[in-house]
Amino acid sequence: MVEHNGKTALVTGANRGIGKAISYALAKQGFFVILGGRTLKDVKKLEKDWTNEGLHVHGVILDVTNNGSISMVKMALMQNDIKVDILINNAGIFLEKKLPFSQSSEQAMIDSFQTNTMGAYRLSKEFLPDMLANNYGRIINLVPGIIKETASIHVAYKVSKMALMTLTAMMADEYKDANIKINSACPMWCRTDMGGPRATYSAEEGANSLLWLINTDEHSPTGKFFINGQEKPF
Ligand SMILES: NC(=O)c1ccc[n+]([C@@H]2O[C@H](COP(=O)([O-])OP(=O)(O)OC[C@H]3O[C@@H](n4cnc5c(N)ncnc54)[C@H](OP(=O)(O)O)[C@@H]3O)[C@@H](O)[C@H]2O)c1
Repeated sequence: MVEHNGKTALVTGANRGIGKAISYALAKQGFFVILGGRTLKDVKKLEKDWTNEGLHVHGVILDVTNNGSISMVKMALMQNDIKVDILINNAGIFLEKKLPFSQSSEQAMIDSFQTNTMGAYRLSKEFLPDMLANNYGRIINLVPGIIKETASIHVAYKVSKMALMTLTAMMADEYKDANIKINSACPMWCRTDMGGPRATYSAEEGANSLLWLINTDEHSPTGKFFINGQEKPF
């Protein structure tokens, strides 16, 4: 049995890809990990397998585009007196890959904002007040490393993630006097459904490159953008 370190992490899109890898890595470090997924049976399967390994995890149904779903998670946690210390806004979609602006659709823009930008907005709004009350919180918003490149390609994805990076910096500014660190990070190019089989890194390697942002002290950076531990401009 892994010893619980007293902190709770909530990961969105924990059922597969980088979300699954970071959830497992956090649980191995002793965090109690709430596994958020759109399909309950997927996260319950992980809960069962990982609990059998002695890890502290709990699967919940969580759709980041649905306020009701987010409130249900918050309520269930409150009823059990559980506060979220670490929030990993990992859930994301990559629509209309490669399409330039002229061929992009309004629907893809809206859907990408709903998940990639507003998902993180909603989760942060719901859980930041508790972090503030505890004077402790770490939020990581997952973004791609290609963000600065303005080539007209991946339009819906890049614009929604760019907005997320701006939101990250704004939230960090508002909470800068508390021990709350909110950063954007790129997990590098990983072999997941989104990254594809030709990507350079495994999901586990991508997840591991983010872990240091969780285990930071009150003097660590906030409102920044990192790739593999290196701060990058955006
Ligand atoms: N892979 C890379 O190379 C790479 C590089 C840079 C950044 N990232 C970022 O890292 C994050 C994870 O990427 P990935 O490669 O692991 O992607 P992935 O394999 O496609 O997995 C995406 C995850 O997001 C979940 N998701 C999508 N919409 C959701 C919603 N409305 N509510 C809750 N969950 C939702 C999916 O759940 P379902 O199974 O229900 O669809 C899935 O668990 C993304 O934010 C991505 O932008 C990835």
